Amino acid sequence: MDALWYGGDYNPEQWPREVWGDDIRLMTRAGVTVATVGVFSWAHLEPEDGLFEFAWLDDIIDRLHTAGIRIDLATATASPPPWLSTAHPDILPVTAEGVTLGIGSRQHYSPSSSTYRRYADRLVRELAQRYGTHPALEAWHVNNELACHVRHDFSDESAVAFRGWLTARYGTIDRLNEAWGTSFWAQRYNDFEQILPPRAMPTFGNPTQLLDFDRFSSDAWLGVFRAEAAILRELSPGIPITTNYMSFFIGGDYWAWSEELDFISSDHYIDPADPDYPVRAAMSRDLMRSLAGGQPWILMEQAPSAVNWRERNAPIPRGVHRAMSLQAIARGADGIMQFQWRQSIAGSEKFHSAMVPHAGEDTRIFRQTEALGAELSALGPIVGSRLSARVAILFDWQSWWVHQQRAMPATIDYIDGVGRWYRELWKMQVLVDFVRPGAELSGYELVIVPAAVSLDDDARSVLDRFARAGGQLVVGYMTAILDENLHVTTGGYLGQLQQTLGVRVDEFAPPAAPSLSGGEVPGLAVDGLGAGAARDWGEVVTPLGAQVLSTFVGGLLDGMPAITRNEVGDGRAWYVATAPDDLESVVRAILPATTLSDPPPQAVGVEIVERGPYRFTLNHSASTVATETGPLEGYGARIEALTPR
Ligand code: GAL
Repeated sequence: MDALWYGGDYNPEQWPREVWGDDIRLMTRAGVTVATVGVFSWAHLEPEDGLFEFAWLDDIIDRLHTAGIRIDLATATASPPPWLSTAHPDILPVTAEGVTLGIGSRQHYSPSSSTYRRYADRLVRELAQRYGTHPALEAWHVNNELACHVRHDFSDESAVAFRGWLTARYGTIDRLNEAWGTSFWAQRYNDFEQILPPRAMPTFGNPTQLLDFDRFSSDAWLGVFRAEAAILRELSPGIPITTNYMSFFIGGDYWAWSEELDFISSDHYIDPADPDYPVRAAMSRDLMRSLAGGQPWILMEQAPSAVNWRERNAPIPRGVHRAMSLQAIARGADGIMQFQWRQSIAGSEKFHSAMVPHAGEDTRIFRQTEALGAELSALGPIVGSRLSARVAILFDWQSWWVHQQRAMPATIDYIDGVGRWYRELWKMQVLVDFVRPGAELSGYELVIVPAAVSLDDDARSVLDRFARAGGQLVVGYMTAILDENLHVTTGGYLGQLQQTLGVRVDEFAPPAAPSLSGGEVPGLAVDGLGAGAARDWGEVVTPLGAQVLSTFVGGLLDGMPAITRNEVGDGRAWYVATAPDDLESVVRAILPATTLSDPPPQAVGVEIVERGPYRFTLNHSASTVATETGPLEGYGARIEALTPR
């Protein structure tokens, strides 16, 4: 398609036919180019076992097609109908405590259920046969937000699948015992048959078992995608396939999943009550572009205004939906879709905003729907264009999972830690890619590695080579403490990165959490680069040749290195052993070694991104600000054509 995607989830089965004509009229008025159809339609498409009813979907697809609207057709497998779950309760997922999750909401199935698979495959086959070559078909939308509500399933069928997964990974039980360190607490297994998912236990579970269950669960959900995609590829060749991600979502290793998708799409719901929403959203958009390997991606769902699933659901202020839509386009999206087209009048999402609100077309929200459609239709020249970043942040699902485990030296909020670095670069208008461990880094000048706690030897070597070849490598605390089996590397933490960084980490000393009784707790501070309070983490760092740029102040760590820099090969490797409040100074000290130095200062909340033929200037503050190209009103956004260089 040579236009941007614009539209949303369209659920006509919730409405009488009279409304369908009105939908098409309003979609045409709003410049909708794509509708996502069928996401929760299983019960309407197969009202009884094996009885398929496609007439209504034929009608809808024809109406959309006649109006020139393309279709992102969902496989409808996200919510099995009650007849299926009651006839086959074995499909239901089970929690760690042994509670079987019931019907009445959605996603009530195990990704490992062979019965679910059989029924879902049959439905997908029917859909693909019927619509796989339809001229209006733009893309296939597999399932919906895989793993969203059921990240792990602990059922018996899942236990069997987990054992199969472990057998494929380790081959022999001895290798599993070695990897899991089962000499500890008499956890040794004689046979794969003895292994269970990590169901509720008296205390700390085996860390490698927990990690393997996270890996297995991510793969199990990817398996749901894979099974459906195989049918679609067979029966509907050439039509691209996606499934909608959930931004930074812990349940799926999206690096692995992205190898299997034809294009990346993701949902993102800003929280207008969170002052940090522009940064969080930018970070998510940059992750999606990175998962897509730099190709354009689709913002598959966002809310036109309030959602219905927070404690208090704030509306999105005037201007913000537009600015955030343009932020996604600026950061590589080729489409802006919303949940949903017409606001439901029944069901648990009736208070969730939609492009056509309850109050109808003469409303602020429908005017917003129309205005954005008109604006996006003029941005055709951007479709397909790519961005290029010179800075990368390493992002690792495996480390995220490990940071969630108990029995760690301290609970680290991994996303928060990554976000702190991201925010400083965002404030300086520096575009960031995310990279997975072991990824090729030669195109970057600066690579930051925050809290990648579990890294294998290959991933450590890539970082070392990057610095020696002239790159600026920044390693944050809690990196490379564990290998891929979560075994500690002895002789000081960091393993081979000790030579790269010119330091050794001997001991951890995280500051105490704030006292619940309100008493004083010992704080942490640093002196030198990034001087001032520091949070989250402290540790005993022994220099092995690195230059000390700042030191800890007070307590056990007093006078010991907090930030260091090592000249290594043609590059430099920085080590940052805590989270200084003044991270900005640290980033400003690093950037001059790259071509990114001296970004022009901008008013607070202003974001500038260039993509393809345009420069986007966004004002995320409520008041008018001065920009290089004139004043910009609160929550305003300006698009300017760049003069070709
Ligand atoms: C998403 C989901 C949609 C809808 C939306 C509401 O997670 O994919 O179906 O529930 O949230 O915000």
